[in-house]
Order: sequence, then C-alpha cells, then structure tokens
Amino acid sequence: MADSPEKNLMDKIISLAKRRGFIYQGSEIYGGLAGVYDFGPHGVELLNNLKREWWDECVSTRENWYGLDSGMFKNPRVWEASGHTKGFSDPLAECRKCNTRIRVDKALEAIGLMADEKMGEEEINTLFDAHRKEIVCEKCGAHDFSPVKKFNLLVKSNLGDFTSDGDEPVYLPGEACQGIYLNFKNVVDSMHPKIPFGIAQIGKAFRNEISPRNFIFRCREFEQADTQLFIKPNENKEAYEVLKQERMNWYLSLGIRKENLRFKQHENLAFYAKDAWDIEYCYPWGFDELEGIHDRSDYDLTQHQKFSGNDLRFNDSETGEKYIPWILETSMGMGRLFLAVLTDAYKEDEMNGEIRTYLKFNYKIAPVKVAVFPLLKNKPELVAKAREVYLQIKKVIPQALWDDNGNIGKRYRRQDEIGTPYCVTIDFDTLDNQTVTVRDRDTGTQQRIPIGDLEDYLKTN
Ligand code: GAP
Repeated sequence: MADSPEKNLMDKIISLAKRRGFIYQGSEIYGGLAGVYDFGPHGVELLNNLKREWWDECVSTRENWYGLDSGMFKNPRVWEASGHTKGFSDPLAECRKCNTRIRVDKALEAIGLMADEKMGEEEINTLFDAHRKEIVCEKCGAHDFSPVKKFNLLVKSNLGDFTSDGDEPVYLPGEACQGIYLNFKNVVDSMHPKIPFGIAQIGKAFRNEISPRNFIFRCREFEQADTQLFIKPNENKEAYEVLKQERMNWYLSLGIRKENLRFKQHENLAFYAKDAWDIEYCYPWGFDELEGIHDRSDYDLTQHQKFSGNDLRFNDSETGEKYIPWILETSMGMGRLFLAVLTDAYKEDEMNGEIRTYLKFNYKIAPVKVAVFPLLKNKPELVAKAREVYLQIKKVIPQALWDDNGNIGKRYRRQDEIGTPYCVTIDFDTLDNQTVTVRDRDTGTQQRIPIGDLEDYLKTN
C-alpha cells in the first residue's frame, strides 16, 4: 500500500479520525502502545449508535433471543476446555536484521500459499523454508528470518496470583463468546427458552497479535459483538444460510454500500469450526474480514461439559429428548465495523469552489444528528434565541450539538467532517418570523423552516 491512493485514503481517514475526536492512539502522550486505541467524544457516540443498532437487531426486536454481559475474567479451566491454551496460536518469525516480527501465515498468503491452522511447527517451517527468498521484511527489505514458532495469542494476567509463582495464570478473554457458553445453562434455567434460541453479547477480547496493523483493524484489545444460536443437532444447514443473509442485510440497513460487502468462505478452518464464512468489507487496502459466521456444531458445550463435569444437555420439552445443542455463531469486531462505516462514509467533493471532506453517515448512526448555531456570536439576541432553539431540540434529539466556534463557513466544514446531517442557523430573520435555516450536509442546500416544524423535519428527512 506504500504511497498508493489506498494508503492516501487510509492516512486521510486516520487524520480525520484524530482531528475530529473519533479515535486517538492509546497512551499517546507516552508514545502510544501498539494495537490499542481510544475512542474520542464523537467516536464513542458513533460506537454506541452502532452497538444500539446491533442490539436492536439481535436482541430487542427478536423473540427467544437473550442478552448477556459476562465477566471478563474466567476460571482458567475455561480456556483449556475451549482449546485456546493449546490451539490458539499464530506462526511467528523474526527478521534477523531488524527484529521485526511477522505473521508467517499472512506472509505466505501474500505470495499465494496457505498455511493451515492445523499445521505443526515442523510442517510450517518446511513450507516457509521453501519460500524464504520470496518473503521480504517489510521494514528493512531483508530475507533473513528466524525459524517459525507457534505463538499463543492468549493474554495472561496475574489476577489473584499472590504467590507470584506464575503456575496458574488467569487469562483475559481471547474471544468474548466463551461467556455465553458458560451461561448457557443459567439462561436456560431462568428464561426457559424453546429451541432454537439465541444469546447475544458485546464483550472485550484481547489477543497478543504479532503484528497489529491497519489502524483499528487488527488490535490487541478490541470488542466483539457475538450471537450464538442454539439449534437442534443436524439442523444447521438451513439456519446457517438464513443467519448469513440476515447479517448481510443488517450491514446494508446501516447504509453501507452493497458493492463494498461480500461473503467469503474459509478454506482454513479454526479449530472449533465445521464451516465458516466471513462477511468482508472493502477497506482502503481491499476486501478483508469484518464478521465471522461459524458453524461450531456441538464443540463448545461438549468441551465445557467434559471439563466442568456439569450436564449441559438441553431438555427439549417438545420431543422429550436431551441433547447438546449445536451452535451457529456470528462474531463481529466493533472496531472493524467502525472502520467500515467510516471508510464507506468518507467523501470529498467540491463546494463553493473549494474541496471539502464530509462523512456521509446514515442519520441513525451519525454521532451528531444536528448542530445549532447563531449566525454571529457577538449578537446577544441571536445567541439567546439560538440557545433556546438548541435546548428545545436537545430534549428530543440528544445527539444535538451547540457550535459557535469560528465563522459560519468553518462551522459547516467542521460539521461536514463529523458527518452531521443538518446544521440549523439562527439569524436576524428568526427574530422576526420564527424560522431558521436548515442546511443539508450532502447537498449543501439550505431551507427555511418554522421552528415549530423543526423536530419533525429533522426526524423524517
Ligand atoms: N468467537 C469467534 C471468534 O472470535 P474470530 O474470527 O477470531 O472468531 C471474530 O473473530 C471477529 O472479531 C472477526 O471477524 C473480527 O471482526 C474481530 N477480530 C478478530 N481479531 C481481531 C483483532 N485482532 N482486532 C480487531 N478485531 C478483531
């Protein structure tokens, strides 16, 4: 991507995200911490809007789907049962010249080869050795790498480790969904669902990613929005197709352009999956994974039943049978969705003879729905009227913003970059006839609207 139009676009998005308070580098004043980002004031509003949309889609508007918020720390046995302590690793090699670490599977993929997740260290070293000359260190250009090691991605903590002997680490969650499996029996016992039923959760995940990259795309700390659909054994095929389609339609409902979304089936299956498809988005560097949709069969509950010694079978009152349900999972990285909507909304055009940048967010996800300002900030009668209108709007549209910084042109440019669909200006005519101008972000056109009609206008346009 070096100095390409794609890199240029990525740089512009990163710069706008910082300039306008969407995303900051984590621990920036200390030089940052690789793979960790913070959401700023407009970022957290956008993030919360996206979470609300997801929650409405996956919980609130459905019957037989239940929400959950489980603790991050879990009994260490959980990660043994899930397979993460053994199977959750990426192949790593280190450049002998500059010590840059690379993910060998990604480096092989870039030259058209596939390193299967199930390959052991010896096998992957053989493949890597045969293609060493084709793999270049992207930092220093050398071809000189250490042997490949499988590197476990779980992040350890010392919670409750008062002896410091380090024997029993407690892990941060490598995937958020384990909290759902652990509460499967609790939800069944307290909610008495009929099968099929779903459990949904948004939770943090942590991975010791070897090479965090592409801004918030691959991080070491991130959030996953997961649903687990519990179904009867062998009833996976049709339900899987329905789930895939529902998820794709949801992305379209956020206003993401259809041509920027596609399905891709995994050739290389994770250790828990029977079938796996990704929904990919066309990021500035090309199509890449936004969400994983996995057919996990009975893997998870069988493992937890075995390791915990608890009966995790579902008592099907309709058939009188007891069985371990199969699971269909959807798992979306919130940061990846955030970057997708930011990329999709990013636009440049020419307005009044100047190049302007704006974010064409769908109204329902826009972090600021409307900005209100007085035409001039040194005219107390205009400011007083503008405050009155602003406070009236804010009662019904909480994501309304007061802005009186700089001249009107600067305010429009700032609000365009935040993606604010409407700007309302209070001018001298307002004092005479109780009308305001409403400026549309996408076209720049302005309309005079009676103050009394403003709420309906903003909500329905
Ligand atoms: N429970 C299944 C699971 O964790 P995954 O494919 O490893 O599956 C699911 O992750 C989703 O989580 C991905 O599609 C992606 O959106 C997000 N994700 C995974 N690793 C990530 C990372 N390092 N940084 C940001 N998001 C990540």
